[in-house]
Amino acid sequence: MHIEDILLSMGKGEIQSDEAVQAFVSGVVSETISRPQAAAWLAFAFARTLSDAETLALTRAMTDSGDVMTWPDGPTLMDKHSTGGVGDKVSLVLAPLWVALGRRVPMISGRGLGHTGGTLDKLEAIPGYRTDLDQDALERTLQDVGCFISGQTRALAPADRILYALRNETQTVASIPLITGSILSKKLAEGVEHLVLDVKVGSGAFMTSPERGAALARMLVRVCALAGKQVEAHLTAMDQPLGQAVGNANEVEEAVACLRGGGPADLRALTLALAGDPRAADLLDNGAAMEIFERMVHAQGGDVGALDGGLRGAGCQEHVVVAERDGFIGQVHALSVGRAAFVLGAGRSRAEDPVDHGVGLQIHARVGQKVDRGQPLVTVLHRDGHALDEALALLRAGVTVTDEPGTAFPLLMDHVGPADV
Ligand code: URA
Repeated sequence: MHIEDILLSMGKGEIQSDEAVQAFVSGVVSETISRPQAAAWLAFAFARTLSDAETLALTRAMTDSGDVMTWPDGPTLMDKHSTGGVGDKVSLVLAPLWVALGRRVPMISGRGLGHTGGTLDKLEAIPGYRTDLDQDALERTLQDVGCFISGQTRALAPADRILYALRNETQTVASIPLITGSILSKKLAEGVEHLVLDVKVGSGAFMTSPERGAALARMLVRVCALAGKQVEAHLTAMDQPLGQAVGNANEVEEAVACLRGGGPADLRALTLALAGDPRAADLLDNGAAMEIFERMVHAQGGDVGALDGGLRGAGCQEHVVVAERDGFIGQVHALSVGRAAFVLGAGRSRAEDPVDHGVGLQIHARVGQKVDRGQPLVTVLHRDGHALDEALALLRAGVTVTDEPGTAFPLLMDHVGPADV
């Protein structure tokens, strides 16, 4: 099929056959389709949206554009995908927890970009932890430990890398079918059998409104089920950060606290909801999940001893932001908090930039909470004052004390299974 015909047909709003979608994706990867032609296809898809069948064809073609991982027979292969947020360290707890529950978790994760943190950056706060395992090491770790958390190889869904960059340039990222194809192609290429999706909603999330979040969750579930996988989605709050720690090393510390049965209540509650098994709480409390986490860290080259006070990025200074008056917390605006952590150096704007693992924020305020003048709201971990003023300005605007308690989204907003869509 010729790209000129495909574009003419897309322009008329015609439903595309599986073959036409496949021809588009393989032409993009083989570069027989030019970047302007690919951009035009994306713009048509953005403007007129795609049906479930077209989105499934896109997902399959993108999955098959690279290596599809296969694993030996064994316990169910699970994974979780979060659409990203501020303070979201759930993967670090959930992967070993699922193993303690008898599942396997081949988790391929990403780096942070902009105001959202990345699981790999957090794990790299553990000295020695390798996120670039090759296929042999991935297989060995899955076999010996039951889970790994490592980075995407270039051979995994290469079509997504190309199309995502083009979507960024052409302002077509925010298309629900294109997001669905992008997320699911990478997860299907991991060879998982059961996918749990955490679709975040709020100022710190990709989807800022519950309606858009629900639409994405429903399409993800429909298309993933059509692809033959077990799937469910949770719609969860990201109008304020998850947990207290926002950064890298401090997020690992908080994940470890959760793995030891403690940690902030919202982090624990969300992890248990995503785990979806009544036995999960006991496995956090009795240390079983923590033991698996330590085995995973060790298998991936990390220094397990460093989990107790030896993480990378030490030597930051602290600045405490306090309430300037009595009142109630009106908002802890997740985007402002994420941006503050970003400017301090915890995040990056280009994939190749380094991050400072030590800087970040400890948030002591929750929306609706009563506070007294002088009470600590946020502890800023900064490196020699770098960008401290900018971070403080963001925090002053984003963490507010008001006469009336503010309201926040409930943490667990909705659950979407195949029967609901
Ligand atoms: N995350 C992805 O992996 N892809 C998108 O398109 C959006 C968020």
